[in-house]
Amino acid sequence: MFENIKNDFPMFKNNKEMQGNRFVFLDSASTTFKPQCVIDAINSYYEKFNANSHRGDYDIAHCVDEKVKEVREKVAKFINANKNEIVFTSGTSMSLNLISYGYAAKYLKAGDEILISEAEHASNVLPWYKLQEKGIKIRFIPLLENGRLTVENFKKSLSSAVKMVCLAHITNVLGYEIDVKEICRIAHEKGIIVSIDGAQSVPHKKIDVKNLDCDFLSFSIHKMCGPTGIGILYGKYELLDSMDAFLTGGGMNAKFDMCGDVKYLTAPEKFEAGTLNLAGIYGTGAAIDYLNSIGMENIEKYEKELKKYAVLKLFQNKNIEIYNADAESGIITFNYKNVFAQDEATYLNSKGICVRSGQHCAKILNDFLKTPATIRASLYFYNTKEDIDALCDALEKGGDYLDAYFN
Ligand code: ALA
Repeated sequence: MFENIKNDFPMFKNNKEMQGNRFVFLDSASTTFKPQCVIDAINSYYEKFNANSHRGDYDIAHCVDEKVKEVREKVAKFINANKNEIVFTSGTSMSLNLISYGYAAKYLKAGDEILISEAEHASNVLPWYKLQEKGIKIRFIPLLENGRLTVENFKKSLSSAVKMVCLAHITNVLGYEIDVKEICRIAHEKGIIVSIDGAQSVPHKKIDVKNLDCDFLSFSIHKMCGPTGIGILYGKYELLDSMDAFLTGGGMNAKFDMCGDVKYLTAPEKFEAGTLNLAGIYGTGAAIDYLNSIGMENIEKYEKELKKYAVLKLFQNKNIEIYNADAESGIITFNYKNVFAQDEATYLNSKGICVRSGQHCAKILNDFLKTPATIRASLYFYNTKEDIDALCDALEKGGDYLDAYFN
């Protein structure tokens, strides 16, 4: 099933031609490549249906309205939500900011606490930090020595002041998965709201929000073969509808008058002021169809096997220190002994290998890992054992090359 899958993605063919014969992309935690069917769907909006949604009384505008409805339903089905629980945003960051502004700032008060962790991405730290201006406290659930977050430590961090817990389902540097279902069960017994950052989980495994029972789930479509600039906020309907809109304007109001009286639409439309990212919505529909045609269970299984292969192979190189060998996801974070991560990544680039290096937007985590920077290789289902072999071959020479380069 996965053997020839690279052929679906023009990026592989085009870059191989440009870069000589090797082009290995190991940065899918950052963004993923788009298959031709997604590119075609995006283009189809501009080439055949270029009209605004919910505003036009003509055929192509009606087609766009139908597409928005269809894709909202498709996204809902993909995560087992109801269609009115799906808000189109610009990405995970906007979704999380919307929860912070629309829910937490409205319902939490001075002295209330929000639990997060040191392993979170900036987008799952800074929207909560902003609430400190209102006297809301941000506390960190202690991680295990290897960086894993356990239910035990979550339980120990609870107090009567905790009103929300905001965690990544899979963290973007260490790639550890948390037990969302159990955390939600415990949190809900105490009336605590759970917001999950699904940016690194929704693209890689089957998600069922009803089974997990999280209150909010945020994710980005560009990390799951779809276009940039579009993301999703899922929220349980009664919570969503009780939230304040972050943006106001056209498309989100039912009426307003000269006295300043305003009536907003209900969720999800009340959060979608302005023209939607319509080409992005066309691409989102195609991306979900594409992932469904492969099967999320197949994707998860394949990536787990590939990750195992990669870790075993990287272990053979005594100069490599892996920080998260036992993580469930396809994220491998490591350093080459005595070589600065960004230098090593630059060297890998010279061998046609794309990895991310630095702090990966999770700037608190480096203190925890006691290193200024790391290299991150992140896998998706279009990666192969040959990609891993190419990375490992290049790393065999990593130190020598840099010694030669700097001397
Ligand atoms: N969240 C993206 C990453 O981890 C940008 O690389």
